[in-house]
Amino acid sequence: MNVCVVGLGKIGLPLAVQIASKGHHVWGADIHRPTVDLVNAGEVPFPGEHDLDRRLREVIDAGALTALTDTADAVSRSDAVIVVVPLVVDDDARPDFRALDAATAAIARGLRPGTLVSYETTLPVGTTRSRFLPALTAAPGLADGGDVFVVFSPERVYSGRIFADLRRYPKLVGGVDEASAERGMDFYRSILDFDDRPDLERGNGVWNMGTSEASEFAKLAETTYRDVNIALANEFARYADQIGVDIVDVIDASNSQPFSHIHRPGIAVGGHCIPVYPRFYLSNDPAATLPAAGRALNDDMPRYAVDRLAAVVPGGLSGQTVAVLGACYRGGVKETAFSGVFATVRALQSVGATALVHDPLFSDDELVAFGFTPYHLGDACDAAVVQADHVEYATLRPSDLPGVRALIDGRRCVDPAPWTAADLPLVVIGKG
Ligand SMILES: NC(=O)c1ccc[n+]([C@@H]2O[C@H](COP(=O)([O-])OP(=O)(O)OC[C@H]3O[C@@H](n4cnc5c(N)ncnc54)[C@H](O)[C@@H]3O)[C@@H](O)[C@H]2O)c1
Repeated sequence: MNVCVVGLGKIGLPLAVQIASKGHHVWGADIHRPTVDLVNAGEVPFPGEHDLDRRLREVIDAGALTALTDTADAVSRSDAVIVVVPLVVDDDARPDFRALDAATAAIARGLRPGTLVSYETTLPVGTTRSRFLPALTAAPGLADGGDVFVVFSPERVYSGRIFADLRRYPKLVGGVDEASAERGMDFYRSILDFDDRPDLERGNGVWNMGTSEASEFAKLAETTYRDVNIALANEFARYADQIGVDIVDVIDASNSQPFSHIHRPGIAVGGHCIPVYPRFYLSNDPAATLPAAGRALNDDMPRYAVDRLAAVVPGGLSGQTVAVLGACYRGGVKETAFSGVFATVRALQSVGATALVHDPLFSDDELVAFGFTPYHLGDACDAAVVQADHVEYATLRPSDLPGVRALIDGRRCVDPAPWTAADLPLVVIGKG
């Protein structure tokens, strides 16, 4: 089979490689020329995806993956099309459909009768049917009759471990009609392998969700559930701070009861899209109260961390230089979308501190482009905030931050021993 993957980013490229390694020919379409050139040269354009370098070289050497910038051309060669172009959102998570609409228009230009189109980008409920289906059915290639089959099948992977996650989680498929669902199910069975999961009542594999709306809702439900759960852990952590106990002990004890799944604060932050999808859900269901409350609490955690730091630095943070360690949303993944770094820097500035930013995955120029002033380990500072759980920070010592008078570890990732030995405050959120 010929398969087109539109959008060769952190999700689309591993997916294209997975499909190519199952004996299909993949036409990878991306509007970014440097990405296309790198992929065709067998080079991964971004760091951090386990085993992608080796697997990409293998499928490129075998001639099973070809990247190109012309989506319509790629689609015209294909029996099935997967769309993983991002849905960009503004600071209030209002979606900007321009990229997805442009991709859909390009797909329509290349569409032949009988093609399957699967949207994997997370969408507000109803988008596949109301926004994309009409554009696809109006495709010039279908003018003489013939069908297009359209499904929504959410991407449930975590970047960094995509190949493992593709095997681990059931693939959800929801069609705009039953014929589309059938085509979608057959297609995903032919490109994925699944781990044995005796814990799942339906067994691991491709699951028909009945409608594209149910499939869209499933993705928003799982991410909103996680966000609300993280908010509850954060709320408990704040109370634990008040009464001087370690929230992780409390949560682990409560999780020893069946059916109790509370996240550990500062440890499980989820993917960088977790702050966005509850807002998609709220756009569908504006009367919902828990997702809104959870979002507000999670959004407030950087301010809370800065307040806690200010409380342990003698004289407070006004006029002090504070290093924010980690611009990324989470450790090891070069992605700043919705990272707490932005709110942390704003919170520091609002109390009169000078905020500097360090991240081992970003160059100074890249940090400057985000509007930050770069910080280098070894430079003087008065205090520091660990914002992302990069492995490099586990062994952070006071001598890495000359002049430091307090550190707040928002991710529970720093070894406290050198800080205790130096008699310097290391504040861990939720540790009393
Ligand atoms: N990254 C994650 O951890 C994650 C996890 C689960 C789901 N997702 C979903 O996957 C989607 C894609 O995320 P990503 O991390 O791969 O994004 P990304 O930014 O890494 O990659 C997106 C790619 O799409 C390309 N692109 C943009 N507009 C295009 C167009 N009109 N036609 C063709 N290509 C175009 C870009 O050049 C880029 O290479 C997200 O919107 C989200 O719904 C992401």
